[in-house]
Amino acid sequence: MEKKSFYITTPIYYVNDIPHIGHAYTTIACDVMSRYMRMKGYDVRFLTGTDEHGQKIQTAAEARGMTPQELVDKIHVNFRELWKVLNISNDDFIRTTEDRHIRVVQAMFKKLMNQGDIYKGSYEGWYCVPCETYVPESSMGENRTCPDCGRPLITMKEESYFFRASKYVPELIEHYEKNLQGVMPRIRYNEIMSFLRGEVRDQSVSRTTLKWGIPIPGDEKHVVYVWFDALINYATAVGYLDSQEMFKRYWPVVRHMVGKDIIRFHCVIWPLMLLALGINVPVSVIAHGWWTVDGEKMSKSKGNVVDPFKMAELYGADAFRYFLLREVPFGNDGDFSETALVGRINSDLANDLGNLLNRTLQMIVSYANGVVPDGGGNGLQGGDPLDLELRAFGESTLGLVDQAMATFSYDEALKQIWAFIGRGNKYIDETMPWKLNKEEKTERLRSVLCNLYEVLRLSALLVAPYIPESAEKIWKQLGCGGSPLSAQLDEFRWGGGAGTKVDKAEVLFPRIDLEQWKKDRASASPKPEEKERDVEHEAEIDVDGFRSVEMRVAQIVRVEEIPRSKKLYKLEVDLGYEHRTICSGIRNFFRPEELEGRRVIMVTNLKPAKLCGVESNGMILAASAGEGENEQVVLVVPASDVPLGSRVR
Ligand code: MSP
Repeated sequence: MEKKSFYITTPIYYVNDIPHIGHAYTTIACDVMSRYMRMKGYDVRFLTGTDEHGQKIQTAAEARGMTPQELVDKIHVNFRELWKVLNISNDDFIRTTEDRHIRVVQAMFKKLMNQGDIYKGSYEGWYCVPCETYVPESSMGENRTCPDCGRPLITMKEESYFFRASKYVPELIEHYEKNLQGVMPRIRYNEIMSFLRGEVRDQSVSRTTLKWGIPIPGDEKHVVYVWFDALINYATAVGYLDSQEMFKRYWPVVRHMVGKDIIRFHCVIWPLMLLALGINVPVSVIAHGWWTVDGEKMSKSKGNVVDPFKMAELYGADAFRYFLLREVPFGNDGDFSETALVGRINSDLANDLGNLLNRTLQMIVSYANGVVPDGGGNGLQGGDPLDLELRAFGESTLGLVDQAMATFSYDEALKQIWAFIGRGNKYIDETMPWKLNKEEKTERLRSVLCNLYEVLRLSALLVAPYIPESAEKIWKQLGCGGSPLSAQLDEFRWGGGAGTKVDKAEVLFPRIDLEQWKKDRASASPKPEEKERDVEHEAEIDVDGFRSVEMRVAQIVRVEEIPRSKKLYKLEVDLGYEHRTICSGIRNFFRPEELEGRRVIMVTNLKPAKLCGVESNGMILAASAGEGENEQVVLVVPASDVPLGSRVR
């Protein structure tokens, strides 16, 4: 029989940043679903990749003194590496700078243009010149300023190509009305429907202000807008241009998993593009929530970004995978805390699952010479109600897990699996195999051991998509050949393990000693209030000592690189009463256009010093935090306008 296909995708990640917990979360969720569907007999295609064009990338490259191509070639590797570390089983990894993708984007663009669904017009909006980006009204700072650099925005009008999105809106509404699972969960479905019923404007799909993008065929001063380019990756990767056969096999069954912040692109713009192209819209877009960390929004400046590499190294990829999907109902926001992670390792993994495995294997070794007894009648000889109930529990768990997975309710699936594991542990306490052994109730003991073995065999299969490495270990200890991941869930038969020789019991998840863990953690990453004590302080000064530092408001008028230095800029500053030249070590943190025109605070009575051949006559003030790659530097500036040369006291 031909297998049914199933195609699942993660968003493609921007490579201007290193991977964090948010990226890991979506990818792990897709991986678990892919592995599960493979075990249900589907022909699965699982895609992930990187989004490599656009302003963000160009800006990040400039800040690092690299070309955009050099940057993306370097950074995208971090994602590939992380997926290895987290045991991600993607079938393909797409980069939007690949030729296979560029060809598809250009072909789709041309098709839409030829049929009149892309037309030339002009785009007008609020624009930040130094950041070279349009800022939507909703994200502007106070007094129409740029949310990134704080500078005033200007209105800008440029020639742009537009996609006639509005034309296809009624068709999309009709589609969603008939397909309630088109956007999941329901709260996001409702959000999308009300957006669609409002005003959906035609979309600008090209830029002339930026170079780093896919050129528009026949009008090369334009590049394709990054989102129009990025969304198409999903079609490129299953052969939209290159393999009709593959496209037919996977496209009609595509599911996109995304964070809740990017659903408009996936549930409105992308399906409208597809309708215009005459292609099916996705079966579902599944939106997950956002992670905060210890109750706070994750941000580089707070230094609380959760590094998935580190989590995998400290606790193991499986524990991290398990925690992310168990801790919060999929679709809701969640809070990440290492304390909660450690709690789950100890209770769910070490205690519930680890103990069941250990106790069972030890008993099979002690009471049955390490060979799973044939309990007779699939281990149910005698028809003991307890045995029948245990088996029914196992079989219904398979069904409940399946129902939960059909709605991407990972936490619910895990709750069902752990309820079954808990039932197994309780069965040991109820049957007391050690007592049966002592009393030489051999037949009963054989059935009990056989049933316990089946609990574990089924549990190993059920947990395999979530914790693949550990499931393999359990499988090996159970003496089963092959891998649980290549087994078929529907082929599981209770009692099928009789006669197997079990392997040595080994600890699967060592319990974490909480006291020790707290101590280690405190010394590894001091909390902010503890850090305070480690701050290096200067010797005390009196007020006259402070007064002797002359500080004034100055304006940076010109910025030049100093050829002999990688860190220094030569700045020309205006103090109102004179111009000065100073050297400043901020080159790695600001582009010249981010500095020119800015008012800063400057120390004006420093002794002149020669740095890399340039005489410096003062110093501008900046605050810095973090170290190495995480170092962050911000300028100290007057809060509002004050004449140049004003004294700072
Ligand atoms: N490149 C676009 C996607 C294009 S898809 C055609 C993009 N990339 S991203 O790298 O910025 O974000 C990727 C995903 O990470 C998004 O789904 C986003 O929701 C998710 N997350 C980013 N931070 C997150 C959390 N703190 N928590 C959970 N997920 C979050 O957007």
